[in-house]
Amino acid sequence: MHNAAFAELGLNWRYLAYEVLPENLREAIEGAKAMRFAGLNLTVPHKLLAYNMVDALDESAKFWGAVNTIRFEGRKPGGEWLPLRAFDNDFPADIRSHGFNTDAEGLVTSLEQDLGVTLPGARVLLLGAGGAGRTAALKLAECGVAELHLVNRTHNKAEELLSVIKSAFKVKTHQPLVHVSLGYPKTEVDLVVNATSLGLKPEDESPLDDTAFSLTQARAVYDMIYKPAETKLLAAAKAAGCRTASGLGMLVWQGARAFTIWTGEEKVPVATMRRAAEQSIYAR
Ligand code: ATR
Repeated sequence: MHNAAFAELGLNWRYLAYEVLPENLREAIEGAKAMRFAGLNLTVPHKLLAYNMVDALDESAKFWGAVNTIRFEGRKPGGEWLPLRAFDNDFPADIRSHGFNTDAEGLVTSLEQDLGVTLPGARVLLLGAGGAGRTAALKLAECGVAELHLVNRTHNKAEELLSVIKSAFKVKTHQPLVHVSLGYPKTEVDLVVNATSLGLKPEDESPLDDTAFSLTQARAVYDMIYKPAETKLLAAAKAAGCRTASGLGMLVWQGARAFTIWTGEEKVPVATMRRAAEQSIYAR
């Protein structure tokens, strides 16, 4: 999707994929720096490891404790750090790696743009309290949702997440703006988000317990899984009349944000990126 976007904007850039063993990650980042790459994306399991390997951390990476995007920057004679694209052919003596995280923003933009959800004041049921669930919960709370109902197979992980959110937002605002609770709500919700890995395999059941919660109680359902394009949860949600979207949008929007971080380009050709991602993921 990045190469399609580069082509559309006439940028002579290339996005390449490298498989790197975790034990070689530090060398790989230093190598990319030495070769004056514009930046990197990292995926599992490197996002957590890179946190302690980059030279500088953006607030987004600090907040999530993980890095999915690196931008290489050079130091100007005045001491200012600028993206390497600002240097043309004069090579800066000092280069640093600057870590960002665009995943949570990708989720929020996808919920708003692809599913038409207004997050401030929304009532949300979140399934999953693993890595993805934790990121989603914290970001949703930060966006000002009114209710957050947490459900997870392992109950004490949901309990733990509840107390993390409560303390994070109490400290910040001195009052919990979001009402967080455990278990399925009896009332209606504006949004259900699946952040579990249930649905990746064809034999997987829906992550939602339909004896405890009926999809007719929900207006919109988001599945962070994007392959298959329609999970059992999304098929059932559609049948119940909910608006639905898969996690493909999250993938595309986190990429769009990374694209801006590297290139400085605010007008990202998102539709082109989405088409390219769809083609590469589904047309096989
Ligand atoms: P990720 O980083 O993708 O979130 P993870 O941290 O391993 O991966 O979390 C996986 C999530 O899917 C967890 O919420 C997990 O539930 P548990 O905390 O109980 O393990 C959930 N999950 C995975 N397999 C599941 C299954 N068969 N039934 C229900 N939930 C499942």
